[in-house]
Amino acid sequence: MRRKLVAGNWKMHGSHTANAELLAGITAARPFGCDVAVCVPFPYLSETAVALAASEVRWGAQDCSAHEQGAYTGEVSAAMLAEFGCRYAIVGHSERRQYHAETDQQVADKAKAALARGITPIVCVGETLAQREAGETESVVKRQLSAVIHTLGHCAGEMVVAYEPVWAIGTGKVATPEQAQAVHAVLRAQLKAATPQADAMKILYGGSMKPDNAATLMSQPDIDGGLIGGASLKAADFVAICRAAS
Ligand code: G3P
Repeated sequence: MRRKLVAGNWKMHGSHTANAELLAGITAARPFGCDVAVCVPFPYLSETAVALAASEVRWGAQDCSAHEQGAYTGEVSAAMLAEFGCRYAIVGHSERRQYHAETDQQVADKAKAALARGITPIVCVGETLAQREAGETESVVKRQLSAVIHTLGHCAGEMVVAYEPVWAIGTGKVATPEQAQAVHAVLRAQLKAATPQADAMKILYGGSMKPDNAATLMSQPDIDGGLIGGASLKAADFVAICRAAS
């Protein structure tokens, strides 16, 4: 039985005031029967670390440089994230792939850099609507995951995978539990062929997960939690999803 993980992806949202209220609302609802994390914008890592220090709620970043250090203006290294106590780093989110042209190999290199600093990469994969309609869902997610598996080698079992169908992100158009489970099963099979740890690995679903659909999605055999965007910005909704995972 895998323990579920619910991770909030705040994306580019937040302010000192809003963050304090949100984090207080989450910590007040403890304990949870699942692992819980928030992935916040870089400038808020410090205050998040302070606010969550006495709780079991973990925190992380939404990206991580593939480089150790150097002349990479605007980049943030895994070593820096580790100094803030980050437990997770999202890599390969479709918004990064789409708006920053990140390739499968760059995503894989970021995952490797995170792991090298003891940070668990949450590796996002997912197809666009056009790819789904063209029947390419399976080949797309397998190609994306394959690059990471290959690059991480014997450490592949240490990542968390998140299946986020691009057409379901921020659209309110959630994948049905059956659609999501079908892709998660494909990913699990791919992981099984690569690492003996596959059965213990978490594969999260992301894409319009809300309090009213979370329990059904997470009751699927290969859905081990959620990567939550919009609903992670309201404490009541995020807590309700954590409860649904418990
Ligand atoms: O990483 C989380 C994500 O992209 C899903 O966003 O707003 O559809 O829950 P949302």
